[in-house]
Amino acid sequence: MAIEERFPGVFFDGESYYTENRWDTESVYGERIITVKGRKYRQWDPRRSKLCAALHKGLSSFPIKKDDVVLYLGAASGTTVSHITEITEKEVYAVEFAERPFRNLIKVAEPRKNLMPILGNARQPSEYKHIVPEVDVVYQDIAQRDQVEIFLKNMAFFNAKKGILMLKSRSMNVSEKPKIVFQRVADQLSEYTKIVQSVKLKPYEKDHMAFIVKA
Ligand SMILES: C[S@@+](CC[C@H](N)C(=O)[O-])C[C@H]1O[C@@H](n2cnc3c(N)ncnc32)[C@H](O)[C@@H]1O
Repeated sequence: MAIEERFPGVFFDGESYYTENRWDTESVYGERIITVKGRKYRQWDPRRSKLCAALHKGLSSFPIKKDDVVLYLGAASGTTVSHITEITEKEVYAVEFAERPFRNLIKVAEPRKNLMPILGNARQPSEYKHIVPEVDVVYQDIAQRDQVEIFLKNMAFFNAKKGILMLKSRSMNVSEKPKIVFQRVADQLSEYTKIVQSVKLKPYEKDHMAFIVKA
């Protein structure tokens, strides 16, 4: 089986994306683990991870590099986080406010020496400022009405150079057409950041857009 490194730390076999299983863990969410030339890789499922969905939908450059410190907001049980800890060699600070998924996140963090789970509310970055230093990237995936404000607040608070916002239009306004919401959010983001790319996640996720921005 042939596998190529499409972006640093992100591999592709012509059909699926993978990250290298460098923490030598079991499967995290039922994903397949393959071995190629003695190295183990975890298959990345675009239906379970919006970042992988964005890759399948044509992300032209991958926003997380090997030496990026990442602040991840809305970590849930760590599905996407687990892949990010295999892409960057630096720290991943993962914030989640619901206790149940947080318990699973702690298990995912056990073998991953670069993952710091934080039980906290992304609306209040001052709650975790004593743990999180300045970061390179803010990644956010929380379905809240004020998700754009939360994202911009955290980018500014931690002086992030890059941001990835997984926007769910229906959480902002159920009755408005996603197209209108996406345009309004693009205008709002453009006031404070430069939008590098935006990618619709359909058919993997309905009414979602991935915005990749630079500060
Ligand atoms: C769609 S899930 C995230 C899935 C995850 N990003 C992944 O790809 O594996 C959204 C998560 O955001 C969390 N969340 C929502 N609002 C939050 C907030 N204000 N602070 C922290 N977590 C929040 C929810 O509890 C939920 O677990």
